[in-house]
Amino acid sequence: MAQRRLAGIFARKSVEQMHAEHEQSELKRTLNATNLVLLGIGCIIGTGIFVLTGRAAAQFAGPAIVISFVITGTLCALVALSYAELASAIPVSGSAYSYSYASMGEIVAWVMGVLLVLEYGLSAATVAVGWSGYVASFLHDLGIDLPVGLRGAPGTPILDFSSGTQVGVGVVNLPAIIGIAGVTGLLVLGVSESAFVNNIVVAIKLAVVIAFIAIGAFYVDPALWSPLVPAAQPPPPPGASTSLWGEIGAALWSVVTAQDTGRYGVPGIITAAATIFFAYIGFEAVSTAGAESKNPSKDMPIGILGSLIICTILYILTSAVLVGIVPYTDLNDPAPIAKAVNQIGLPWFAVLVKIGAIAGLSSVMLVLMYGQTRIFFTMARDGLIPPVFARVHAKYKTPWINTLVVGVIACGFAGFMGLDELANLTNVGTLFAFAIVCVTVVYLRYARPALVRPFKTPLFPATPIAGAVMCLFLLMSLMAHESTRNFFVIYLAGGIVLYFAYGMWNSKLGKGITVHGHEDVSQAAHSKISD
Ligand code: ALA
Repeated sequence: MAQRRLAGIFARKSVEQMHAEHEQSELKRTLNATNLVLLGIGCIIGTGIFVLTGRAAAQFAGPAIVISFVITGTLCALVALSYAELASAIPVSGSAYSYSYASMGEIVAWVMGVLLVLEYGLSAATVAVGWSGYVASFLHDLGIDLPVGLRGAPGTPILDFSSGTQVGVGVVNLPAIIGIAGVTGLLVLGVSESAFVNNIVVAIKLAVVIAFIAIGAFYVDPALWSPLVPAAQPPPPPGASTSLWGEIGAALWSVVTAQDTGRYGVPGIITAAATIFFAYIGFEAVSTAGAESKNPSKDMPIGILGSLIICTILYILTSAVLVGIVPYTDLNDPAPIAKAVNQIGLPWFAVLVKIGAIAGLSSVMLVLMYGQTRIFFTMARDGLIPPVFARVHAKYKTPWINTLVVGVIACGFAGFMGLDELANLTNVGTLFAFAIVCVTVVYLRYARPALVRPFKTPLFPATPIAGAVMCLFLLMSLMAHESTRNFFVIYLAGGIVLYFAYGMWNSKLGKGITVHGHEDVSQAAHSKISD
C-alpha cells in the first residue's frame, strides 16, 4: 500500500483531464482581453509601489531604485512569457498549481501549493500592513490619531506624521487586522469583486499614479538624482576591485553565497530589486482566470504581458519622480508617495493619494485573499488537504471554513509582523514558484511536444532558463536575512512533511477518483471578475 502510494507522488493529471474538469464546472467564459489586462493591473499596483519603493530607496538603493525596477521588470517579463505559454495551452483554473499537476506531478504541485500560500495568503497580510500606514495617515488628516502602540507590529518604530521622527514602537497593527478581517467577512458572504468594481478601482489607482508622475515631474530636483548610485556601506574591503565590473562581480558572489551585502552601491541595487519584486506580484493572477477567459489562447498572453508592461513603465516613472522630489534618506515612511506630495505643497492632492491608495490596496487584499481560498479549495477537491477546506456554506455558497482559517492566519501575520519581513517572505515564496513555472515550460516542451500551444515563449529555451536563473538569484539575495532564511526553510520542510503525512494518502488522483469541477461553489463565489 505504502509502496503504491509512494509510486504515485509523481502522478500527473493529464492536460485533457484538466480540460474535462473545466467543462464540468459552471465557470462561464466571459472575460475579454481588456478585462484581463485590468484584472492584472488591479492586482499588481498596491503596497509595492505605494510603500515599499520608498523604503527600498531609503534603505538600499537610493536614486538607483529606478535601476532596481528595470532589473525586476525584466525578470518578470521573462516569467510572464512562461506564464503566457502555459495559460494559453492549459487555460484552466488553479494556475501554477494546476500547471505543475499536469506536468511534473503531484509532489511538485503540492510544493507549488505550499509556495502559493506565501504568494497569496502572506502577500494579503503584507498589503494590509501597507494599507494600514495610509489609513493611519488619512485618519491623522481627519484629526484622529490612533494610539502609537496600535499602529505597528511589536517592536516596529512608529514615526511622527509630520516630522518623521520616531515617537514610539508598535505593539499590534490594529488597522491591518481590521482590514483583513473586513475582507474575510466579505469573502465569507460571497461579496467578491465584480468586473465593474475592479474597473473603477483600477481607474482610481491609475489616475493617482499617473497624476503623481505628471504633476510631480514639475517639482523634480535633478540634483537629488545624483549620485545615482550612492557609495556602498560598508565600503568594499581594501584590495577589492574598485572598477564597476569588479564591484558587480563581488556583489554577485555575495548574493549566490547568501551573504549580507550591506546598503547602497551595486549590492544595494540588487537587494532593492528583490524587495520591490513585491510590487510586480499579481500579473500572474491573470492566469488564475484562465477558465473564465473567452478566447484564452489569444487573450491570456495579452492580459499577462499587457498588465505587466503598463505597470513596469508606471513604476519606473513613479520611482524616478519620487526620489527626485524627496531626498532618498527621508523616504523610509509608511506613506512615502503622500509624503512627496505634501513636500511639494499640495496637501489636497496628498489626501487624494491616500484615498486612492486605501481604495486600491483594499481591492488587492480582496483579490489575493480570494486567490488563496480558491487554491485551498482546489487542493481540498483534489484530496491533498482535508475536505473541510472545500465545504461550502449552505446559504452563502462560499467555502466559509476555508476562508475563516485563511483570514485568522493572515490577521496574525498582518498584526504582528513588520512590513519588510512579510514582503521578504512573500517574495522568497513567489520567486521560487516563478522559477518552477519557468522550468515547467521547458519540461513540457520536451515531455509533450505535440501539446497545442497557441502562444509560444520566444527564444526558447533561453527565455525560461534566464527567467528561472534570475528568480533563484534574487531569492538567494533575500536568503541573506537570517530570519527569512530560517522561516522559509522550516516552512518548506514542514510543508513537505505534511504531504507525506496526509496528502499522499488522501490524493484523489492516487486513489483513482475522478475530480469534478467547482460545481458546488456558487457562481457568485467565483464570478469576481466575470460579470
Ligand atoms: N503587487 C501587489 C502590491 O504591490 C501585490 O501590493
